[in-house]
Amino acid sequence: MAFPKEFLWGGAVAANQCEGAYNEDGKGLDIQDIMPRGIKGAPTAEPTEDNMKLVGIDFYHRYKEDVKLFAEMGFKVFRTSIAWSRIFPNGDDAEPNEKGLQFYDDLFAECHKYGIEPLVTISHYETPLNLAKKYNGWVNHDLIGFYEKYVRVIFNRYKGKVKYWLTFNEINSVLHAPLMSGGIMTPLTELSKSDLYQACHHELVASALATKIGHEIDPEAKIGCMVLSMPTYPLTPNPDDVIATMQANNLNDFFGDMHVRGEYPGYMKRYFRENGIEIKTTPEELALLKAHTVDFVSFSYYVSICETADKSKTQGAGNIIGGAKNPYLKESEWGWQIDPQGLRYVLNRFYNRWQKPLFIVENGLGAKDELVDDGQGGKTVNDDYRIAYLNDHLVQVEEAIEDGVPVMGYTTWGCIDLVSASTAELAKRYGFIYVDRHDDGTGTLNRYKKKSFYWYKDIIESNGEKLKK
Ligand code: BG6
Repeated sequence: MAFPKEFLWGGAVAANQCEGAYNEDGKGLDIQDIMPRGIKGAPTAEPTEDNMKLVGIDFYHRYKEDVKLFAEMGFKVFRTSIAWSRIFPNGDDAEPNEKGLQFYDDLFAECHKYGIEPLVTISHYETPLNLAKKYNGWVNHDLIGFYEKYVRVIFNRYKGKVKYWLTFNEINSVLHAPLMSGGIMTPLTELSKSDLYQACHHELVASALATKIGHEIDPEAKIGCMVLSMPTYPLTPNPDDVIATMQANNLNDFFGDMHVRGEYPGYMKRYFRENGIEIKTTPEELALLKAHTVDFVSFSYYVSICETADKSKTQGAGNIIGGAKNPYLKESEWGWQIDPQGLRYVLNRFYNRWQKPLFIVENGLGAKDELVDDGQGGKTVNDDYRIAYLNDHLVQVEEAIEDGVPVMGYTTWGCIDLVSASTAELAKRYGFIYVDRHDDGTGTLNRYKKKSFYWYKDIIESNGEKLKK
């Protein structure tokens, strides 16, 4: 039996994609409240009614019902994020908002009631809007201090209640989606590489600081980084393509290298030199990075891409990070290429590089679902496509474990339908639980168990034994 007994099976969401209640109980606005088209359209001046995230799936009011359903599937772990602007509505406030803190007390208590361990992302694409507008987000060094204050408050408050923490969701995506990922208002086209890598540096320092503070406040806490994994294959065996691939992988692995090894790698110094990138660092920051490395590495995995030295061919694949299409792979309805073996590959690669326990904290299929009668007076979705996708990926996780990779757990993305990050739609569904809400704003918000709900319950119950090889 490949999956260890203590394997953490579960599911993942993020506050901004499910909670709704965007202005309740003292919550301040965050950048998602003005991004009605995700990364596919311009931000608005104010929150607008067509923004699906303002209501989300109303998890803020319905979390008890939802956690109960997660428990019914047998979840051992539930990944969610804390909405920063529920705790510090403007990001730079003097005092935290008690009602926001209370909400997460209640949510974590509800998880513990069923023996579900919360896995908490400290910052998941939801920078307080004020920090974006007033400081231009993570480009500004001051963000480190605001983040530090926020993490002190939450580590103290949830000490003993949360064991697993992630400092930033997909930290590497700030290079590609600066507003969503880094609260940076300046459009990508107007940002220099120095600006972007300065923002990365600030987030990396903040991440090391969170690791330090978290360990001081709660020595039992396990603190990890979170990267968007993008296994990159050479488009052809042409050595030019192989080197281009090596470089693309390096640029992406840079974030894990910093979190695990705690220093700027040689390939990055060269990249900075050759691209005229200059960033400001201090000896104290560099010492902090070196001294406070992570306990584990977590990552999302959806797609792989190909790289080639011929830049005219590098379009069309990927999600937030783009690349060339792989002619051997099929794709989802949203054009994301499906590559289960890429998961085994990336698990091996990451472990060989970092020798740290790995946690797959996002993986799943965004698809259009049809709610149908279940023949017993209820409703369901016959999502065999989702079952096949998850089954095939989990088989590869098992292979990686057989290869000797220590995998802590697996949380499927969007274990309950939620609003998509890149396109801000509800039509792109990932869940085991269908939520009756639609992009035109209609729907009862009722929850329905999909076929995959029962499938995942079986997989967890059998600790992976029921996977089809
Ligand atoms: C990751 C994010 O990029 O992918 C999630 O961490 C996101 O927030 C997930 O939802 C799936 O992407 P999308 O665009 O289909 O929601």
